Amino acid sequence: MDTVLRQPAEKRWSTELAALKMDSQSPRPTGWQMSPKAVVTYLMGGKAPDGTVISPKYIGDRRLIETAVATLATDRALLLLGVPGTAKSWVSEHLTAAITGDSTLLIQCTAGTDENQIRYGWNYAKLLADGPSRAALVPTPLFRAMETGRLCRLEELTRMGSDVQDTLITVLSEKLLPIPELNEAVYAERGFNVIATANNRDKGVNELSSALKRRFNVVVLPLPDDMKREVEIVVQRVGEMATGLDLPAPKNVPEEVARVVTIFRELRNGCTEDRKITLKTPTGSLSTAEAIAVMVGGLSQAAWFQDGALDAEALGANLVGAIVKDPVQDRLALSEYLETVLKNRRDYSAYYHSMTSLV
Ligand SMILES: Nc1ncnc2c1ncn2[C@@H]1O[C@H](COP(=O)(O)OP(=O)(O)O)[C@@H](O)[C@H]1O
Ligand SMILES: [Mg+2]
Repeated sequence: MDTVLRQPAEKRWSTELAALKMDSQSPRPTGWQMSPKAVVTYLMGGKAPDGTVISPKYIGDRRLIETAVATLATDRALLLLGVPGTAKSWVSEHLTAAITGDSTLLIQCTAGTDENQIRYGWNYAKLLADGPSRAALVPTPLFRAMETGRLCRLEELTRMGSDVQDTLITVLSEKLLPIPELNEAVYAERGFNVIATANNRDKGVNELSSALKRRFNVVVLPLPDDMKREVEIVVQRVGEMATGLDLPAPKNVPEEVARVVTIFRELRNGCTEDRKITLKTPTGSLSTAEAIAVMVGGLSQAAWFQDGALDAEALGANLVGAIVKDPVQDRLALSEYLETVLKNRRDYSAYYHSMTSLV
């Protein structure tokens, strides 16, 4: 049995990727392991030339993915922008897995990220013993991506300080990384590019210097605009995650997903689906990703404590936890929603009771 908790996309979907790679007819950019069309098929689902079924990874607008893939075939880098939970990291992982077969060249940007984590660091024992040399240099994922002509992922780009962000300018415009200590430079191999993600809930891209912004093509990943599509995303991902966690998925999953997603959408949009009642919106983002987490939490509770019966009891606590992020404001928003909306809906009465007892 596989004991690794989570395999990177290129391992988990290796059969699909292998099938798409086999097609040697279609032209591909240098350094890519498959054609841009095949990359889009891998993300959106379809069939490989040999008939292998490709499952959809991203559910949404195909053109967004086409723009993203096309960008990566140029000398511009790709910036995926959106509120939390709109599959930015997920898409970035799958794009790198499909294009270069390696999604692990990843830098998580934080307020504490410094230049050494972007460019290169030093092995101080070696540095002190022999002085600066290539052997004493510790390459970062960005460095290795340049050397090997692969893609580097920068997660939450706007979180790191703008002075550190600006070290990327030379890399993205001249495709080289100077190493002044050795009086040399790394020249990026063909195939190198960068996929960054940024969250427009926290700092926003306005914080990016205009010099850097100009080097990125921005693709905005939206929250799903219709209910049907959002339910589809949640049902599919919950199914996959339940299998991965060895949790049984009872028959009523789609029904409960529809209820959870309705609650999330109404609170997020600040009005009921029929647009008749205006609501207070909680502070959290209540994204699709959080709806997935609520369902998986509910399934786990159902499996371990309720003999597999997934009901409002198991989901209520997870729902309250996801909605109430601020103990005062969000609690108020939720109790108002419970009293003005859910109380009057017959098919939600179990949810009304289980959630009311918790807020
Ligand atoms: N449109 C979508 N299609 C497929 N999966 C989605 C979609 N939106 C959200 N998800 C799911 O949400 C989860 C979280 O997404 P993630 O990439 O971590 O969000 P972000 O990086 O935007 O905050 C992923 O597991 C992904 O499967
Ligand atoms: Mg992310």
